[in-house]
Amino acid sequence: MEPMTLSIYAQRRARVAAQLGQGGIAIIPTAPERARNRDSEFLFRFDSYFHYLSGFGEPNAWLVITGDGHTTLFCNPKDLEREIWDGVRLGPDAAPSHLGVDAAFSVAELDQQLPQLLENKATVWYPFATHKGLETRVDGWLNAVRARVRFGALCPQAQHDLCAILDEMRLIKDDFEQDVMRRAAQISAGAHIRAMQRSAAMLRAGQDVREYHLDAELLHEFRQHGSQYPAYSSIVAAGANACVLHYRADTAPIRDGELVLIDAGCELDGYASDITRTFPANGRFTGAQRALYELVLASQDAAIAATKPGARFTDPHEATVKVLTQGMLDLGLLDKDQHGTLDDAIHHRHYFAHYMHRTSHWLGMDVHDCGSYVEPTEVGQVSERRDPLSGETIKDRPSRILHPGMVLTIEPGLYVRPSDRIPREFWNIGIRIEDDAIVTAGGCELISRGVPVRPDEIEALMRG
Ligand code: GLY
Ligand code: MN
Ligand code: MN
Repeated sequence: MEPMTLSIYAQRRARVAAQLGQGGIAIIPTAPERARNRDSEFLFRFDSYFHYLSGFGEPNAWLVITGDGHTTLFCNPKDLEREIWDGVRLGPDAAPSHLGVDAAFSVAELDQQLPQLLENKATVWYPFATHKGLETRVDGWLNAVRARVRFGALCPQAQHDLCAILDEMRLIKDDFEQDVMRRAAQISAGAHIRAMQRSAAMLRAGQDVREYHLDAELLHEFRQHGSQYPAYSSIVAAGANACVLHYRADTAPIRDGELVLIDAGCELDGYASDITRTFPANGRFTGAQRALYELVLASQDAAIAATKPGARFTDPHEATVKVLTQGMLDLGLLDKDQHGTLDDAIHHRHYFAHYMHRTSHWLGMDVHDCGSYVEPTEVGQVSERRDPLSGETIKDRPSRILHPGMVLTIEPGLYVRPSDRIPREFWNIGIRIEDDAIVTAGGCELISRGVPVRPDEIEALMRG
């Protein structure tokens, strides 16, 4: 690792250590390997917390950080026979110079070393409810410490959730992270362009276009540019499939005259991108498609304008809902006589018929990244309300205040299922436009606009 990169990870560990307190100790495992079928495993993806603190991508590894700022790594030992089958291992001897940790041991020594590391500590921290079986292992190590109490050993008396510390740290992306996220978004933007152009080109050539053809274009572009894998399962939804929110790229034909919704983003060096574009399969919007598209775009413009430091996380969503709901009333997706004024339609959540998801989520190492959506300084300010649709009582707490370095998606959508109350020309249209925004000092930076969103620009790039 470059010295500058080493120091980034070292600084993160030091920030964690400072928050553990003198008698604190933190235990962070990476992700487990998972069987896919006999003798074959899912492609390994490290645990985000672990990688955030180490930059180390091998499986079967653990970090232990103590309040005095000392870090120990446990990792796979060098083993020529295993390395012939599975690839080169860093090994404990090389780990300190390569990763900047203070000490490293074979993971085979974990159960022997952990009780020693826990002895005489006051508080043990680990990510709660994240790693199956971790609590049981910690119990085992604490029991081993207790067995030595008669020899004068002190056993930690408190356990804390390490996520509380790490989630707050990961919520604000440093320059290094922002740079990776810009590059990830740029690769994904190129992939969306490639898929749009292939759709139009195949239809022009009279070929049978399927959702998987466009999925293949996305994957090609991701890997061509060094992305390790998609950050989530790509959605490539032809026509009415776009109204299924968690649709996957499948086999449906992509037909001339229909829209295609693609929600896809690559992961690059541990960071996700998350982009959605909706475009006409043949490269030309119909009047009805364009009318709905322009509405979603206007609602996204409003959300982008509301994404700035000092605003609340929910402000972009509220801005979106206002524009979308007014548009639904104007275009006849909601009946003015039945649903009343804009305020009524928002208050009673009538817009939910066509817009049933939130406008944003945090984005980072995880697609739906960690970080509380509640403002930590106001967490005690609870107000109760009855949800107009479910009738349930909901406790609202003040939404998070945005700060520079937070990264969120802005992804309004509109989904129209067939209904006699709705003009037929809108039936089965599903549109979502999703961009990735870094909150900056003056507003936000859209890092995913390497692929255009304006209808004229989309049509122009699809003309060939
Ligand atoms: N692609 C996942 C999401 O948009 O939230
Ligand atoms: Mn998203
Ligand atoms: Mn998405």
